[in-house]
Amino acid sequence: MRITDTADLWWKNAIFYCLDVETFFDSDGDGVGDLAGLAQRIDYLADLGVTCLWLMPVYPTPDRDDGYDVKDFYGIDPRLGSLGDFVEVVRTAKDRGMRVIADIVVNHTSDQHPWFKSARSSRNSPYRDFYVWRDEPPAQQQEVVFPDKEDSVWEYDEKSGQYYLHQFYKHQPDLNVTNPKVRDEIAKAMGFWLELGLSGFRVDAVPFFLATNGVDEHAFTDPHGFLRDLRSFLGRRTGDGILLGEVNLEHADQQRFFGGTDGDELTMLFDFIAMQAMYLSLARADAAPLAKALLDRPGISPDCQWATFVRNHDELTLDKLSDAEREEVFAAFGPEPEMQVYGRGLRRRLPPMLDGDPRRIRMVYSLLFSLPGTPVLFYGEEIGMGENPDVEGRMAVRTPMQWDDGKNGGFSTAAASKLPVPVVEGGYGPAHVNAQAQRRDPESLHSFVSLLMRRYRDCPELGWGAFAVLDQPHAAVLAHTVTWEDACLVALHNLGPEPVSVPLALPDAQEGSRLVDLLAEGSTPLDEKGRVELSLPSYGYRWMRLVAPGDLRLV
Ligand code: GLC
Repeated sequence: MRITDTADLWWKNAIFYCLDVETFFDSDGDGVGDLAGLAQRIDYLADLGVTCLWLMPVYPTPDRDDGYDVKDFYGIDPRLGSLGDFVEVVRTAKDRGMRVIADIVVNHTSDQHPWFKSARSSRNSPYRDFYVWRDEPPAQQQEVVFPDKEDSVWEYDEKSGQYYLHQFYKHQPDLNVTNPKVRDEIAKAMGFWLELGLSGFRVDAVPFFLATNGVDEHAFTDPHGFLRDLRSFLGRRTGDGILLGEVNLEHADQQRFFGGTDGDELTMLFDFIAMQAMYLSLARADAAPLAKALLDRPGISPDCQWATFVRNHDELTLDKLSDAEREEVFAAFGPEPEMQVYGRGLRRRLPPMLDGDPRRIRMVYSLLFSLPGTPVLFYGEEIGMGENPDVEGRMAVRTPMQWDDGKNGGFSTAAASKLPVPVVEGGYGPAHVNAQAQRRDPESLHSFVSLLMRRYRDCPELGWGAFAVLDQPHAAVLAHTVTWEDACLVALHNLGPEPVSVPLALPDAQEGSRLVDLLAEGSTPLDEKGRVELSLPSYGYRWMRLVAPGDLRLV
């Protein structure tokens, strides 16, 4: 691998940070976060160590699904600012060495989109075929995504006398992506935002728009061809733009969405399987489920990458666990029915799930940054924000960013009643959890996460390397290596409360090698057989680099 390759494939060891402009920082005091506010906080993100922003939808919207209901692919929601403000954000980020990607919603539009308004006005509308219509819903219906709000994925349209498909809410009609005109429109919209400086997209709900439910299956002989087309379009327009896909499927299916080992479809996929296994491992204090999920990852092209994460903006879905496993995680991290949602997930952030135990919270973030892949943070994770359980459904984790201990947590000067979502109250409220205090405190979670980011960037093997589990006797401990060319990171994580002493063997290590700690002072020599014994406190973690005699690498 030459240095030019590693620089071009910037996403292989990037650090992504997802935020919703609406709840990040309000610069004009109207209660709603805005792009001008985000531009003012770019330095905060650069200082933290973020290298790529992921903006949740910023498009004009009736806002019935937090902006995932788009009514115009070419604009900015006026509450957030203008296209000019958007360009200022992208330009400021670039100046600080950061890239920006944004959500693109291909599966559906809002029912307020002019295409749908026209489509439903008459069966002869030129846009009728932009959506999926049927005289009768099929006998076999797929499950609804939001069982609290919907009981079918087909909705009868009185005026035009047919049913339309909506895999999400009924106000989000599915686009018919078998229609070449729809495909062109999507590509054109992507092209527009790329010209404004984006480095790619987080592609919403990918398996849903490639599913053949309800659409004419004969017209959809090669669904993955659409992804290949989008990827090559992006490649032609940008050279190094990415598609980061939301694909919550089993491993074998995930591989198809990368384009197999050719790697010509999605550039990156969220590792939902490892994320869910991690929570099972934490609940059991047993590293085995997580280790298995990582070892079972299918092979992917070097041009592709896994995106690792602890939490995102949606429910913490546990749908890929068995019913019994999901109950274990519920019992450990969200036993009350109101902490759960859709029967499959939790509407909580990490710190409250771990009863605020700083050792466990740090151990989890240490684990996240030590896994092979590219880490993705959700805003506020770096300071340990909690959720607001009084806010409905998934929105409980989308509360305003807590900047300081003042009014509205420093998010806005407006009256609290004007905010899109109320600020967290109580022990996780701004008086106890805020960015300003933590930035001044070298012992804070913010300082720790920032250290993890720096070390992650120091260790290219984490983005590029191969994962292996080291044998050792403690079920609660994950001892793993990530190796790439001559670089090797050794990481230890104790998922349990008992302090342990961990014997390890690295028989291939060169004689005289040492393990140099990266998160603390210290280094431990290996014996002549490559063995070493290392201690780990309760919920402890260690990152070490294997350093051979005479090796000048930066540690
Ligand atoms: C994705 C988004 C979610 C949204 C849904 C419908 O799953 O992550 O927030 O509600 O798509 O667009």
